Amino acid sequence: MSDNAFYITTPIYYVNDIPHLGTAYCTLAADARARFERLRGKDVRFLTGTDENALKVARAAEAEGKDVQTFVDELAERFKETWRAYNISFDDFIRTTEPRHTAVVQRFVEKLYESGDIYMSTYSGWYCVSCETFFNGDEVKGAAKAGDDLSRCPNAECRKEVQWTEEPAFYFRLSAYADRLLKEIEDRPDFLRPESRRNETMQFIKSGLNDVCISRVQDWGIPMPASIPGAQGKVIYVWYDALINYASAVGLFSDDPERTALLGRYWPADLHLVGKDIFVRFHATLWPAMLMSVGVEVPRQIFGTGFWNIEGEKMSKSKGNVIEPVHLAKQLAAEASCDFDTAVDAIRYFLLKDVSFGSDGDFRHAGLVGRYNGELANDLGNLLNRTLSMVHRYRDGRVPGNRKRTSALRSLAEEAQPGIEQAYAEMNFVAALSRVIQVVREANRHIEREAPWEKVKSGQDDELDFLLTELLDTLQFVAIIISPVLPSVARKIWAQLGSPRAFEKLRWEDAPNWGILSTGVQTSSPEPVFPRVDTTPKMEGKKKQVAAQDTATPTISFKEFQRLELRTATVTAAEKVDGADKLLKLTVDAGDGARTVVAGIAQQFAADELVGKNIVIVANLEPATIRGVESRGMILAAGEEVPLALISPDRDVPPGTKVR
Ligand code: MSP
Repeated sequence: MSDNAFYITTPIYYVNDIPHLGTAYCTLAADARARFERLRGKDVRFLTGTDENALKVARAAEAEGKDVQTFVDELAERFKETWRAYNISFDDFIRTTEPRHTAVVQRFVEKLYESGDIYMSTYSGWYCVSCETFFNGDEVKGAAKAGDDLSRCPNAECRKEVQWTEEPAFYFRLSAYADRLLKEIEDRPDFLRPESRRNETMQFIKSGLNDVCISRVQDWGIPMPASIPGAQGKVIYVWYDALINYASAVGLFSDDPERTALLGRYWPADLHLVGKDIFVRFHATLWPAMLMSVGVEVPRQIFGTGFWNIEGEKMSKSKGNVIEPVHLAKQLAAEASCDFDTAVDAIRYFLLKDVSFGSDGDFRHAGLVGRYNGELANDLGNLLNRTLSMVHRYRDGRVPGNRKRTSALRSLAEEAQPGIEQAYAEMNFVAALSRVIQVVREANRHIEREAPWEKVKSGQDDELDFLLTELLDTLQFVAIIISPVLPSVARKIWAQLGSPRAFEKLRWEDAPNWGILSTGVQTSSPEPVFPRVDTTPKMEGKKKQVAAQDTATPTISFKEFQRLELRTATVTAAEKVDGADKLLKLTVDAGDGARTVVAGIAQQFAADELVGKNIVIVANLEPATIRGVESRGMILAAGEEVPLALISPDRDVPPGTKVR
């Protein structure tokens, strides 16, 4: 592998159905990482594709009365269309019905047969068509629940009926690889991520590995190589075939020198991103063992992502709550009156910012709109808009280019950048994006503090030039640094800043390269990049409700109100409360030393995004112990069912200032 290469893959998706939010999630996370690595100047290869040889795919085609190949051709196209709509910058799209894949899979199996790692026996056990997975009796029994009238799939995300299967079959000697697998995992702490999945895999291997059945008697699939005795009528088990895609796509066992060169350049893969449901058994155990058995290096890292629920419920066809990514973007674009690409960027931002990568998430439309209106429109969009408006109002729209000393914003950006780089490289999108938004918020606060309108009044021209330049430079920084997640919006911001430099040519190290926006360059008139979603119709409804309730809600006297001690406070530390999805433990300074406050905002706000924030708390609330943490006070937040915005003073006041 060349030193500068970076090879990243997504799972290949079953084409029994169209793409949904879950499949889009893994793909857009991979895209953000791929874009980040390109920005860092890496030679990136980004692979995605479709898994087409599954029994459930053939059944889905039958159910629609379609020829299977025609059916998979149509669906593979749907996946490509969705990924293009989501600006997924894949370099290759592999389909497992393509000859470049099927030939390699057959060669792979032949090699293993020759080396003795594949042998013939009889399979008897359970098969789950939905997961395309074999299970033994103990696994099915172990997962059975009281009231189960049928044998069900042990996979907690599935639980569909399993079928008893008995057939002559080929087996792969997975059991022979347990020690080598454990050693690989122990020797390379970054091999399996996050830590919880690594531990789960070690436990799974230590509990004893069985050999894996790798053939099936069915019509649809890649035939077992005819050279192997007993192969007739059998196809290769779909998982065994599918995993090989990562290597067949870059020319494993190819005779074509061009394709072999790809393998030399990109193998071993740097990162396989996969959902947690297909992590332990397939990607972290079977796949590395398969590679070991043919003497090919194992991938550098496998990362397991979490699952998304929808408005608190499991996403499923039967519940009718499956979110189709393109439909969601159209819906948001209509609500916000923004273009489709901006809506896509906002969804990409939301999914990567809302939960820490690897954990499960709950998709709530109100949460998406909240982050859109908050971090994207109010913070980022607003910074661009007010900066350009001032540049136009005071300087005819031209970049003043006054960089006479190092500005506070420049120091902040330079200080933030290494942390953001590390966070992206560790797939810690929450931390990366929180830091970017902190810079944006600080720039907005800086405008308040520096009050450019006062400088205009008092004729401080030089200082005004300096301020406007540092704000424009900060926008350059933000556009470059946020571009892996917001590729279209970043380009729009860059276009408004007016620089003739092509955005695609900019690199990570250009972000804090103050001076790229040259003096005198004409900026565009400000165009809101994130027009706000108007939530007023809903609010009016609510207002009426509130008005109706008013008659029933007793009023309080001024004296009663005075008993409430509201104070400003600065958040000095924040962390999740163990075992509670919704709770954050905040340490705040409310002017009387440190105190802890437990707040139910963990699903809307990341802990590190809150540190440094000025908020308002009820300071004299009776202390309470919540999940073992003493809480002294309550933070104020706006939002009906979920907290959507924290209440903050609109300018800097010392912590502990009374709110009246
Ligand atoms: N074809 C196999 C993968 C083979 S890789 C060699 C497969 N396909 S899948 O289409 O069923 O799922 C693909 C990915 O989507 C998995 O990583 C799975 O975890 C992910 N998701 C499916 N539903 C999801 C959510 N609700 N939320 C997040 N990701 C989810 O498995």
